[in-house]
Amino acid sequence: MTVTIALPTGNIQGPGLALLARAGVIRITPQQLGRRLLAEADGVRLMVVRPADVHAYVEHGAADLGIVGKDQLWEAGPSQGTYELVDLGTNACRLVIAVPEKSALRGPETWPPSLRVATKYVRATQAYMDAIGQAVELVRLHGSVELAPQVGLVDAISDLTETGNTLRENRLRIVAVIGASTTRLIANPVSLKTRTREVQDVVRRLREAVENAD
Ligand code: PRP
Repeated sequence: MTVTIALPTGNIQGPGLALLARAGVIRITPQQLGRRLLAEADGVRLMVVRPADVHAYVEHGAADLGIVGKDQLWEAGPSQGTYELVDLGTNACRLVIAVPEKSALRGPETWPPSLRVATKYVRATQAYMDAIGQAVELVRLHGSVELAPQVGLVDAISDLTETGNTLRENRLRIVAVIGASTTRLIANPVSLKTRTREVQDVVRRLREAVENAD
């Protein structure tokens, strides 16, 4: 029976396809995939979805397995709906609080009683602020958050940084690190229990491919 894997669009897709090919799970290049949302080969069906939607497809059983950034799992919350099985190690990045270079703000001890923060990552940011006892007013944006503090919408942003180029180009500096993220393999618990052989075989191959790469 076919195993269905949810794969996100964006930065994770290329390394995800490379890992799936190296593991011998499904051999398909980004060029072959093109803009298709479904592809099938080698007894595996790939579903291409938005990064924020991978968890939902796996949780509700439309996909047996999913490849997803840890940052998206933070946003999905402490859900019991999926199992996190393997740290695939790709797309290492950090979720950080950053302010304009000219800002007087530095570490949390210098922040105002309530900090205004723009982000796509509201749950992880709120959890961090709660943990350090900092009141926060979150402004939920859907992208280009780097603009928000430069035009006075907020004091700071909470966003992912990988190379640091985006922060540098927008003259922002890091004042706190919320957490480190890499890509994870997640599974639907029912798939793991009822379709053990096929699904476990894919999990094993991916695990071995990651271990062999170390
Ligand atoms: C992420 C993030 C930053 C950028 C950081 O965006 O939101 O904008 O990458 O990467 P860097 O430190 O290497 O410059 P992404 O490209 O994932 O797209 P998004 O705007 O949809 O979040």
